[in-house]
Amino acid sequence: MQLQVKKFNSFGISCAILVLLLATKTAPTDAVLEDVLDIIHVIKEVTTGILKAWDVVQSSPLASKIEFPLMREKQRKVLERLKEVNRQIEKTEEKQSQYTSLAIESVNDFIGTNVKLIAKMNEITDIMNRISSRYQQMTKYEAVKDKLEMVTLVTFAEWTVAPNAHSVHHLMDRLHLTLLGNTEKNNSSSGNLLAQLAANYEFSSSQICNMHQSPQQFVYALYSDIALTELKGYIMMEFSWMMLRVYGKGNFTQEAELMRNDYERRTERTLKLLQEVMRRSARIVWRCDPEPQHHVLGQTYDEVTRLLQGFIENEVDLNSDETCRETCSYYQNTRTESCFKEKFCARQPGCKGRLYNCQFVQSDMWVCQAPLNSTRRYEYVEYENGSVLGRRGRCVRGTSKVDSWWRYLFWHCSYCMCLCDEQSIKSDRFFNLREAVSDFTQNRVVTGLRFIKKNRIFHLQIQEGELLPRGNINQTSLTWKPVDNYNIFDRDVIKGVDYHSLSYESRSVDLDDINTDDPSFVVTGVRFRVVGTHLNLEARLTEINFETGKLVNSKELSYWNSNDNTDVSGDNRRKKLSISSPDIPTRTIVKSIPMSKHNEFIEFVNSDLYKDAAQTTVPFMDVQDVVSNPPVPLSGVGIYYKGRPGFGGFLAPKIITYDFTRHVVVPKRTP
Ligand SMILES: *[C@@H]1O[C@H](CO)[C@@H](O)[C@H](O)[C@H]1NC(C)=O
Ligand SMILES: *[C@@H]1O[C@H](CO)[C@@H](O)[C@H](O)[C@H]1NC(C)=O
Ligand SMILES: *[C@@H]1O[C@H](CO)[C@@H](O)[C@H](O)[C@H]1NC(C)=O
Ligand SMILES: *[C@@H]1O[C@H](CO)[C@@H](O)[C@H](O)[C@H]1NC(C)=O
Ligand SMILES: *[C@@H]1O[C@H](CO)[C@@H](O)[C@H](O)[C@H]1NC(C)=O
Ligand SMILES: *[C@@H]1O[C@H](CO)[C@@H](O)[C@H](O)[C@H]1NC(C)=O
Repeated sequence: MQLQVKKFNSFGISCAILVLLLATKTAPTDAVLEDVLDIIHVIKEVTTGILKAWDVVQSSPLASKIEFPLMREKQRKVLERLKEVNRQIEKTEEKQSQYTSLAIESVNDFIGTNVKLIAKMNEITDIMNRISSRYQQMTKYEAVKDKLEMVTLVTFAEWTVAPNAHSVHHLMDRLHLTLLGNTEKNNSSSGNLLAQLAANYEFSSSQICNMHQSPQQFVYALYSDIALTELKGYIMMEFSWMMLRVYGKGNFTQEAELMRNDYERRTERTLKLLQEVMRRSARIVWRCDPEPQHHVLGQTYDEVTRLLQGFIENEVDLNSDETCRETCSYYQNTRTESCFKEKFCARQPGCKGRLYNCQFVQSDMWVCQAPLNSTRRYEYVEYENGSVLGRRGRCVRGTSKVDSWWRYLFWHCSYCMCLCDEQSIKSDRFFNLREAVSDFTQNRVVTGLRFIKKNRIFHLQIQEGELLPRGNINQTSLTWKPVDNYNIFDRDVIKGVDYHSLSYESRSVDLDDINTDDPSFVVTGVRFRVVGTHLNLEARLTEINFETGKLVNSKELSYWNSNDNTDVSGDNRRKKLSISSPDIPTRTIVKSIPMSKHNEFIEFVNSDLYKDAAQTTVPFMDVQDVVSNPPVPLSGVGIYYKGRPGFGGFLAPKIITYDFTRHVVVPKRTP
């Protein structure tokens, strides 16, 4: 498949003719067509251009009256028109090729063992290569137009339109048939190649990673490639009829018209199909984990630290009377009151916050404390019966023997394992609540998202880019908008206004997709707010003019959208996503898969007691860029959870690409 990838790049589409007819015969509909996707636009322009070239040959006399110098002059003119047309094709191809190759790469990845699909793809590739190479040959004629023998062009033209199995004419038929199946007989779009590829892509995107294209973008990229090829085929045929006419081989008005009708019909069918496949394709782009061994703190992930952390404390220090009359589990919400006789409590940093959910494991243990610069307190704890909390390894600071004791024979002063919620310099638990919005004055929209930890505060950072006509983004304008550089201790920075601080009571994050069904709005900002005890995502939506690519310029016409649901019961309640027995997320040897749905929430929790001595706060935050290629405006954004059972997983943003479906216009031919 590797070889074919390259060749595949040079291909193209089918929907042009239709548009052409429209544009030339019913001029007033031109305006409507401004509102379409790039490729349809190009097809329109090219086909209009080539039709105009017929003016040159219109008055060509029939064979009997050929005048050689006049003929040469006409040939030259036609070739010049061709050159103009070709310039547009090349420009489009150049712009398109990288996205197409990205799409093709994905095809190669997921198509893997599907023999039927491979065969179809191979056939399409083959046909497209043939059309493209013939097309290249034709464009070369232009360069040597003054030295060309008449017979060369005539042979080329005759070959192109000949009714045999090698002609371009025939290749176009085959391409269409392979792509759509026999749609005359079966309207069901599920049988066609585009739909099959889209379905496969969507299915595999949960397994194959880093595609950077939503399924809808993928379908469109493939389609554009095929459409360009069909356009080339069409140009060759028009050109050929013109040449034959120039050389007095006949009138050919009828033939050309028939061919055009054919192209028109196919284009219409293909566009209808494209529209349907695009409507059904998902538009989500998410980022999968890096290779399991390549998680890098600060680059691919970051952590909320020491929100709830396993902490060993003796019962005697958990109450103000220094008694040991209860059991560990009696202490569900308490604090350290003392340090009785300077025992183990004096040999470890204390917990200055509240202690929750204390439990008794075993009386006597060895504790391996973590290095002082670590956010962990303990590397591991080993009990006398052999049970280990965390992973036993080399202990740099040496282990401490910690034994519970009896007081007056009936009271056991046990060492309990509690969860410590301590706000300290080591506890990064802040989320920015200020808005991150794109620059209106420069006509910019949000094109990507990522989490970033700055001054211990998590921000949802936006990538912004200048919006251009027809849903394009100016690539060179793409930038990650710097996040607000403030510190929680700064003057005028207020908890609950500028930032949210997680705590035992308030540590939920809502997992929502915030988007709009209205295709005239796109995302221009994001922010978090606190609803009850939940962090909740909001997206700012702004109206755009698709055709001109301008934001409808006023902040008043933008609004913030969110999922305000706080129901805890009923059918539409916000469901809690629980993480059971989570190990450190980066320890998994397989990549995470998305596990949350819209309208759920998740809590930050401590890692599992046995797997990690409850030392880590999970989920981690994925801090990789989430952007699409090509960059497009977004109709929505979201926060979701990805992971694997038994591991803590990651919170990450996703983007929902703009829905281009309604700009796949199937023009109506007016009588
Ligand atoms: C197929 O589509 C055509 C035109 O859209 C329609 O007239 C015909 O009834 C359809 N056939 C079936 C079997 O759905
Ligand atoms: C149409 O194509 C679909 C998908 O290949 C197939 O399931 C269905 O049976 C076909 N219908 C007819 C009438 O051939
Ligand atoms: C070519 O055929 C068309 C329609 O058949 C006719 O209108 C036109 O006059 C013909 N042109 C020449 C140059 O014969
Ligand atoms: C802690 O310090 C040691 C030695 O100075 C260093 O090797 C290690 O990377 C540090 N760990 C952290 C988490 O900063
Ligand atoms: C040690 O004791 C704990 C608590 O009683 C128990 O859960 C664990 O299974 C024991 N471990 C071994 C190795 O016996
Ligand atoms: C794209 O953005 C760059 C940098 O912001 C700017 O110089 C250039 O003029 C823009 N191009 C278009 C087509 O707007």
